[in-house]
Amino acid sequence: MKIIIILAVACLVTSACNQSGNNQQLQAKIDSLQAKVNDAYKPGLGEFMMGIQEHHAKLWFAGINKNWKLADFEVHEIGETLDDVKKYCTDRPEIKSLGIIDPAVNTIKAAISKQDIEKFKSGFTELTNDCNTCHKDNQHGFNMIIIPTSPPVTNQDFKPAK
Ligand code: HEC
Repeated sequence: MKIIIILAVACLVTSACNQSGNNQQLQAKIDSLQAKVNDAYKPGLGEFMMGIQEHHAKLWFAGINKNWKLADFEVHEIGETLDDVKKYCTDRPEIKSLGIIDPAVNTIKAAISKQDIEKFKSGFTELTNDCNTCHKDNQHGFNMIIIPTSPPVTNQDFKPAK
């Protein structure tokens, strides 16, 4: 009888030991995966901004060429990049000012849907001013955005497809 009890206790202890060994292994695995996640590449705010800069320039040439489909695409690309900024740049306090450009973006969207070139141009000027307001408010006033004077690329036709 005694032997059976001793064996039973020994069994319980070793299985508990095995269990805690497994837990330690799992924790080590979780820690190493967490370290990989922390190290994974994610673009910084400046990289997203360069994307926005490109879409801003393309949006202008799409709009002034009355290529409304392309303009619509580009303004949505700006919106998607802003969503990515909100998702990936949570460590940047400046992003609380992002909403500053929303009214201008909405004006541009409305201008595109009405195919209204004058409204598009004024919305674009408002948008460009807002970019700079946010830069100035966040010690980046030296990143001065202007209405582009020539197309950002030469390998794309900004006129509407025939
Ligand atoms: C949240 C406020 C905010 C708004 C709105 C904003 N920016 Fe920025 N922008 C920043 C900050 C902050 C930086 C500096 C990022 C860094 O530290 O790399 C920056 C940097 C930039 C840069 C420099 C990127 C580089 O590395 O060369 C460009 C270009 C730029 N923004 C374009 C724009 C354009 C175009 C708009 C408007 C469509 C805009 N930004 C709107 C905050 C903003």
